[in-house]
Amino acid sequence: MTSVLITGAARGLGLEFTKLYAARGWKVLACARKPGGLKGVKGDVQHHPLEVTDYEAVKALAQELSGEAIDILICNAGIAGRGSPGQEFGTFDAAEGRKIFEINTVAPLMMAEAFAEHVARSQQKKLIAITSILGSLANNSGGRYFYRASKAALNMEWNCLAKDLEGKGVICVALHPGWVQTDMGGPTAPLTIDESVPAMVRTIDGFTTRHNGRYIQYDGTELSW
Ligand SMILES: NC(=O)c1ccc[n+]([C@@H]2O[C@H](COP(=O)([O-])OP(=O)(O)OC[C@H]3O[C@@H](n4cnc5c(N)ncnc54)[C@H](OP(=O)(O)O)[C@@H]3O)[C@@H](O)[C@H]2O)c1
Repeated sequence: MTSVLITGAARGLGLEFTKLYAARGWKVLACARKPGGLKGVKGDVQHHPLEVTDYEAVKALAQELSGEAIDILICNAGIAGRGSPGQEFGTFDAAEGRKIFEINTVAPLMMAEAFAEHVARSQQKKLIAITSILGSLANNSGGRYFYRASKAALNMEWNCLAKDLEGKGVICVALHPGWVQTDMGGPTAPLTIDESVPAMVRTIDGFTTRHNGRYIQYDGTELSW
């Protein structure tokens, strides 16, 4: 059976990924701090409680799932953090910056390392980081320093993973969902969840080894680093 592991699976983009993959009849390993939104999702959805910055818990979960082949691992959990004060010049808050980096940059890499073998032994072998176009140096319009930097660093990590895991056939892609109407994206975002997530699922379907180490947005368009 095809399986997918999703972090931050009970809210926002993660919950929609869970619903769509479950509707396909896939096994969904839905990692979330609280089951919340997962209640009522139909299909083979297994809730695994996970705070992504609890690295002992990440290792324990990898051990618990050691028999599994995971076709697609989606490192989706993330935070934007407070804007101002906190992330604008003249208001920097180091504690806020550390928290954003811990969740958006350190935790996905720890997930990738813990689950690389589960992905490598699967059919599809796809390791996806949900990044942001705000991490692009080429498209930088300034502001939101820590969030931008956390996603730029995440992009670099996935580009490095692509090199380390290429020999195992793993396809590592940094995927930008677009600006989407979630708790994070806010109500004025141009895309709805229903526009972004099905498009990401189709785009992920189309990934082959040719896409390894690339930075791509929800509709399959290549982004500039
Ligand atoms: N929405 C956008 O416009 C947009 C644009 C670009 C990139 N993104 C990226 O897309 C991803 C999902 O964002 P979203 O829009 O769905 O945001 P969201 O609605 O705010 O949801 C964030 C998700 O991350 C989880 N999470 C946060 N910190 C966590 C932690 N320490 N441990 C475990 N789970 C944690 C949350 O779980 P809880 O429910 O437990 O808090 C929630 O499921 C993020 O990586 C974000 O940076 C979003």
